Amino acid sequence: MDDIKTILVPVDGSEGSNKAVDFAITLAQAYKAKLEFLYIANINQMAINACLSDAILDAVTKAGDAILDKALAEVPHDVPAEAFSETGSPSVTILEFAEENKNNMIVMGSRGLGVVKGVLLGSVSQYVVENAKCPVVIIK
Ligand SMILES: Nc1ncnc2c1ncn2[C@@H]1O[C@H](COP(=O)(O)OP(=O)(O)OP(=O)(O)O)[C@@H](O)[C@H]1O
Ligand SMILES: [Mg+2]
Repeated sequence: MDDIKTILVPVDGSEGSNKAVDFAITLAQAYKAKLEFLYIANINQMAINACLSDAILDAVTKAGDAILDKALAEVPHDVPAEAFSETGSPSVTILEFAEENKNNMIVMGSRGLGVVKGVLLGSVSQYVVENAKCPVVIIK
């Protein structure tokens, strides 16, 4: 397999994403790779649902920071890790990020915060696994 230097881990604070963080840490140790955590605030969806005030934006940013801080806190000191925050459509933004940052692998949960259960993959994990140019590991 190609040299795995950076592993992208998209996190949404869900149980699936927490499991992906744990698994990604194990992979990062095995490959001596760096972890890049990415949270995407789905501003487009929110703009449709609500008039986007500064207070809402602030709350969304804080929620994302808390999710990223929790992921970083799981990482042992010998594993390099960095957190990133973006706005937009999660699926498209994950792929853009992975290409721009030349990530060698994506590790993510099969499901996220969505309420519909019983389907193996959520819409974000399905889109990423279908369209990513690098290997994708889906944690269930
Ligand atoms: N906003 C986000 N930012 C970063 N990563 C995300 C985001 N949303 C989802 N993910 C990643 O994608 C994985 C699968 O979540 P997904 O959103 O596809 O499932 P779902 O929420 O159950 O379904 P849906 O969103 O289609 O209702 C999560 O475990 C997480 O790793
Ligand atoms: Mg979701």
